[in-house]
Amino acid sequence: MNYLHLVPFRSEHMVLALQLFAAKYESEKNMVPALPPASEMMEVMRPRLAALVEKFPACVAIKNNTVCGYMTGIPDLKRFKGTDNGVFIPEWAHAAAGSDRSAIYSLMYEHLARQWVAAGNYTHAVSVFAHDTELHNYLFRHAFGMEVIDAILCSKPSAVPKIPGLEVIRAQRPKDLAALIQMQYELQQHLALAPIFRLGLQEPVPQSLWENNTHVVMAYYDGCPAGYMMAQMNAEGVAAIVAGTLTLSITGAYVRPQFRKKGIAAALLGKITELGEKQGATRVGVDFESTNNLADGFWLKYFTPVCFSCIRHVDNRGTDNGALVMLPPDEIGQCARRAGQWALQWLGSTEYCGKCLAFVEDALETANQLELFGGDSAAESADIYEAGNVNVMPPPGSLVFYDWEGELNGEIRNWGHVGLAFDKGKVIHAWDKVRIDDYTVISSLAVPPGSSPLRYRGWAPLQRVLLGCQRQQSSKD
Ligand SMILES: CC(C)(COP(=O)(O)OP(=O)(O)OC[C@H]1O[C@@H](n2cnc3c(N)ncnc32)[C@H](O)[C@@H]1OP(=O)(O)O)[C@@H](O)C(=O)NCCC(=O)NCCS
Repeated sequence: MNYLHLVPFRSEHMVLALQLFAAKYESEKNMVPALPPASEMMEVMRPRLAALVEKFPACVAIKNNTVCGYMTGIPDLKRFKGTDNGVFIPEWAHAAAGSDRSAIYSLMYEHLARQWVAAGNYTHAVSVFAHDTELHNYLFRHAFGMEVIDAILCSKPSAVPKIPGLEVIRAQRPKDLAALIQMQYELQQHLALAPIFRLGLQEPVPQSLWENNTHVVMAYYDGCPAGYMMAQMNAEGVAAIVAGTLTLSITGAYVRPQFRKKGIAAALLGKITELGEKQGATRVGVDFESTNNLADGFWLKYFTPVCFSCIRHVDNRGTDNGALVMLPPDEIGQCARRAGQWALQWLGSTEYCGKCLAFVEDALETANQLELFGGDSAAESADIYEAGNVNVMPPPGSLVFYDWEGELNGEIRNWGHVGLAFDKGKVIHAWDKVRIDDYTVISSLAVPPGSSPLRYRGWAPLQRVLLGCQRQQSSKD
């Protein structure tokens, strides 16, 4: 097939997907040579991506029979950047190439966003390379805004002028720890206020100031605690491309307001870089909120951005008013399996002839003690569930819809047709009898005289179908 379409991410796509990522990474490294070599990066990313696509929804875009894009994310992050659950798409979990990159991203994001939102993930965050302006534009036009900047040290502070009364030391005394804890609290306050409004950003308080991989440096001005900077080797940053065993990640920095604009943070940076280099660090990374003007002004004097994390909050008023039930993802998978087992018992039976919707609803409801809220006909349910994704094979557990206009109960209209997807595009459905067919051949099944042929309409994920379902009361209740 030479048109652009999506398929589920399978292991045979991994090599080409990583090549797409590697190409984008190389262009970023051309702009920021301080980034780690591509070979080092790919070793880290390969197992991460493999683990992600195995566990979570992931898709691959295909054009001219080759992979031209891929996307996946880490969903179901609790209270992610707000009160809603969300999904995070790391910078290595997506890529696309070609003159129609925006179209590829649109197709992939639309497909996955539908599943993420159906599963209750209303906050979407994505990390992108800092020099990929084409992708920034795409995200800006799709309701994303920048939130976090990951940057890498490219020019060390030049010899800091001697500041009379300033002492910059490695923290090691009990009084250093006391001052550090107080100033960490002041930093939290700063981040919680306008225009940052960043709550719950907790820097790690070192268990001890002598932890092997943590460095804390303190600034005293005329003997008074004036500021600190804290860094860790091999720390988890927002962007994986600035992490790693040889990276010193700055995890906190603060200078009290009355001591600012004297070069104290620059002196702290000089000292902490020196300590990191002695421990073998080959690069220094930092991440900070893009709304933090003071941080932005300071870090960007010395650091070059390599990743932007952008965020979108989906309006969930239509789906999250407390009346709707959203089953957890694990349970949705189990529902599909139980419904499939129930349906198989009817194979060959003519009992559900002309009652395709009743058949799938009975399968889902009886096998799982649930009550669904769909349409009165398969065609109406297809509208309600917004069946689509015609270019992607229906995943197991999804409902697969067709248009079918004919006569039922003396009435001629588009009643539609529906079945329940198994593995590899096989669908169990009640037509002349309960049968299993490939979703692509159902359209060519014989139809009653005078009715229209079956026409494929697409599928709806089970998450969407079960949105708003109610658990049936057991007789014991
Ligand atoms: C970000 C922060 C640590 C910078 O600390 P600082 O000690 O003021 O930083 P410096 O003095 O080294 O540099 C700040 C500015 O003062 C200027 N400066 C330095 N020495 C100066 C001097 N002697 N006279 C006048 N200006 C001077 C620098 O050129 C720099 O200018 P710029 O902002 O126009 O780029 C501080 O503002 C802060 O604590 N902010 C709140 C907490 C925070 O956001 N932390 C970062 C979390 S990621």
